[in-house]
Amino acid sequence: MQLSQLSDKFRAVFNESDYRTFFAPGRINLIGEHTDYNGGHVFPASITKGTFALARKRDDQKIRMYSMNFEQVGVIEFELNNLEYDKQHDWANYPKGMLRYLCEKGYDIQTGVDVLYYGNIPNGAGLSSSASIELVSGVLFEKLFNLTIDRVELVKIGQLVENKFIGVNSGIMDQFAIGMGKENSGILLNCDTLAYEYAPLDLDEHFILIMNTNKRRELADSKYNERRSECEQALKQLQQKLDIKALGNMSTTQFEQHKHLITNEILQKRAKHAVYENERTLQALVALKSGNLAEFGRLLNASHTSLRNDYEVTGIELDTLVEAAWSQDGVLGARMTGAGFGGCAIAFVEKNKAPKIIKAIEEIYEKTIGYKASFYEVSIGDGAKEWDGGPPTF
Ligand code: GLA
Repeated sequence: MQLSQLSDKFRAVFNESDYRTFFAPGRINLIGEHTDYNGGHVFPASITKGTFALARKRDDQKIRMYSMNFEQVGVIEFELNNLEYDKQHDWANYPKGMLRYLCEKGYDIQTGVDVLYYGNIPNGAGLSSSASIELVSGVLFEKLFNLTIDRVELVKIGQLVENKFIGVNSGIMDQFAIGMGKENSGILLNCDTLAYEYAPLDLDEHFILIMNTNKRRELADSKYNERRSECEQALKQLQQKLDIKALGNMSTTQFEQHKHLITNEILQKRAKHAVYENERTLQALVALKSGNLAEFGRLLNASHTSLRNDYEVTGIELDTLVEAAWSQDGVLGARMTGAGFGGCAIAFVEKNKAPKIIKAIEEIYEKTIGYKASFYEVSIGDGAKEWDGGPPTF
């Protein structure tokens, strides 16, 4: 797909050719999984795959939106004065939600827009295609209407859309990574205070391989909410004796001293993951900064093991991919990324051994699971922005 194909489509759908182009990436999470809603740290990075939006202001109050990823749905149309969630508006509820909360917060949006979307992140693969649509929409409204929106505020509006408009109880990681991403850097974010720092991803002879299970994430949302509430219950039990606001406030030593307060074994395992994963995330930053890639890889592997055994969000597909990666010479570390229950895993792979490694993992996966996994090599790019006219990575 070329950018020129998007402009041809824009002309064909809207009969106009004066548009501006915007882009928001997808994200991977290096480490720090299921820690954001526990007030811990996360370490995501924005990738060069994402969502393009071609957009123009209209003279009237109509919003017209078209996605090349859902062509069968056609043009979705609504009015600026009616920004209620509408099931029939399908994917367009994400931009609609952004528009609604921007208006509610007093940002001056007087007219409608025509927007064409095209995304090259696989949907439902756990690379945050929905947060990418939210942020690309936020940025296009900001730029077309000459608004000044603090970027962290825009990120929070994205999360609000997800939580209140769409009804998924997710944390802030995805929108933050996509709104604040920086080329060749991971972002270490404290989800309690929103303090953050960029860490250059100096991977030496390695690159990041995304491995997609191609498993549909049917149970993902209900299981996600279940894990959240298990962590809340564990926290409540700890709070009977301890003055802590979140599991992310605890050190592993403190956890070991007080874990008996959590009477249910399963809740104890969930809390253990949240506390240890938070510590691993901080250790991963230190390892990366000091160029200790072997230690970084070890932490990734420990993260996956904890997500498999204690948090129980992996499943046979992700485990097969990750364990196949672990057994290959030239893999520094591998783990699931995102919410889990299907979706994607990442592996840090030695460049010159990559073809052999991918082939081996591919074979093991297909033999065990019965269908194919997909593999993408990614680069770490900037966060959501107006596209500068350079060649897009499709
Ligand atoms: C999803 C959510 C994030 C985060 C991850 C798990 O991607 O949207 O907020 O909780 O799962 O780390």
